[in-house]
Amino acid sequence: MLKPSVVKELKKIVGPDNLFTSSEELVVYSYDATQRESLPWAVARPVSTEEVSKVLVLANREHFPVVPRGAGTGMSGGSVPIQGGVVLSFERMNHILEIDEDDLIAVVEPGVVTGDLQREVESRGLFYPPDPASHQFCTMGGNVAECAGGLRAVKYGVTKDYVLGLEVVLPTGEVIRTGARTAKSVAGYDLTKLMVGSEGTLGIVTKIIVKLLPLPESVRTLSAFFSTIENAAVAASSIIANRILPRALELVDQAALRAVESYLKQDISSGAAAMLIVEVDGPIESTARDIGRVEELMTRAGAMRITRAETEVEREQIWKARRAISPALYTIKPKKVNEDIVVPRSKIPDILRAINEIAKRHDLLIVNFGHAGDGNIHTNIMIDEAEAERAAIAVKELFEATLRLGGSISGEHGIGLSKARYLPMELGADALGVMKKIKGTLDPNNILNPGKIFLSAE
Ligand code: MLT
Ligand code: ZN
Repeated sequence: MLKPSVVKELKKIVGPDNLFTSSEELVVYSYDATQRESLPWAVARPVSTEEVSKVLVLANREHFPVVPRGAGTGMSGGSVPIQGGVVLSFERMNHILEIDEDDLIAVVEPGVVTGDLQREVESRGLFYPPDPASHQFCTMGGNVAECAGGLRAVKYGVTKDYVLGLEVVLPTGEVIRTGARTAKSVAGYDLTKLMVGSEGTLGIVTKIIVKLLPLPESVRTLSAFFSTIENAAVAASSIIANRILPRALELVDQAALRAVESYLKQDISSGAAAMLIVEVDGPIESTARDIGRVEELMTRAGAMRITRAETEVEREQIWKARRAISPALYTIKPKKVNEDIVVPRSKIPDILRAINEIAKRHDLLIVNFGHAGDGNIHTNIMIDEAEAERAAIAVKELFEATLRLGGSISGEHGIGLSKARYLPMELGADALGVMKKIKGTLDPNNILNPGKIFLSAE
C-alpha cells in the first residue's frame, strides 16, 4: 500500500485528476489479454517525461513498484501489476510528435495507437510495417516494451527492426537518449535494442523514434483452404522455398477457423481443415506475377479452394477474420493458455506434429494459428478449470519440443509472467545471469515491473 504522504506527492506530480485510487478505477488497469489480473495501488497518468521522471524518483525513494501500461492488449502479462504499486498509464502521452518525410522517420509518444501511426504515415505515402493483430488498440509504447511482431514480420521484421532511438527514464529519474535519428549509428553499446523487448523492467520509454519505408505500390492477397493442416504447412514452406517472400503468410487451423466463423457468424472456409493467408506487396507488375505464382503453388500443394481478394473490401474481410481469432477462441472454452513459440520455418510441420502428440497425450484441445512465414505459431491450449494442471504439463512439453527443434519459447509476446519459469530452459544459467546483472545495475531496488521476465524469487 502507498503511504498517504506518497499519494499526496503523486497527486502533486500528475495533478489530482490524473491519479486514480478508487477500486472502480483501479480494476480497469488490473489486467491484460492474458486473463491474469492484479490490482495496482494507484494509477498515474503522466503527460510529460518530466512527470514520469518525478514519479520514478519517488518510487525509488519509497520502494514501490511502477508498471508501465499502454492499452493492456499484451499477451504475456507485461502490464499486469502483479506486485501492486503504481501503474503508469500512457493514455495522455499519445501524440505523434513528428513525421519527417525527408529522413523517413517518425517520433511518437508511447501512448500513440499503432494503427493511428500506420494510417497517418500511409496518408503521406509512407509505411510503418510492424503490424500486431491488435493494431487498432495496442500502443507504440507497449509494442516497444514487448518487441511486438505481427502479420508482416515475415518480410519486414519486428518492432526492434524499426526503432532507431528512444528517450528513456531510469529509476534514478535520469532521462537518457539512446540511438540516433540517423539510418545508422554505432556509437557505443546498442542501448536501444536492450530496451526494446525489456518489458518495462529496465527503464520507462517516453519517446520513440522509428524508421519509415516508402508505402509499397500495390498489395495482393489470397486465402487458400486445405483438407489437412499438414498440407497447409507444406504449402506454406513451398512459397518460401520457391524464393517468394510474401509480406504475410498466415496459417489457421480447423478449430481456429470454426471459432472465428461462429464468432463472426460467417462461413469462411466451407468446412476446410486449414487456411493459409498469403499477401504480397511491391510494384504492380511484381505483385501480379507473385500472386499468380503463389496460386499455382497452392494448387500444386493440394488446395481445395483458393480465393483472391479482388477489392480492398474483400482484403479487409480476410484480415478482419484473421485478427478476430484471438477473441473468437473464447467461444470454445472459458480459458486459454496462449503461447507463441517460434521454430525455424522449415520445422513447422515437425512442431505441429509434436503439438498434436502433446494434445493427444494429455487429452487437451490445442488450437494453432499464426505466422507460418516466420515460424511463429500461436499455440492456444483451450481449458476449463479442471484441465489447468494438464495444460501446465503440456506447456512444458511444448517448450521442450520447441527448443529441441532449435526454436524459442516466445516469438513476439514476451516472457512476462507466465513464461518466466521456463526462461532458464532456453537461456541457460550464464546468459540469464548476465541479464539479471543488467537488471540489477539499472534498477537496483527492483521497482520497475517486478515479477516480469525473471521469477520473483530469483
Ligand atoms: C495474433 O497474431 O493474433 C496475436 O499475436 C495474438 C494471439 O496470439 O492471440
Ligand atoms: Zn501474433
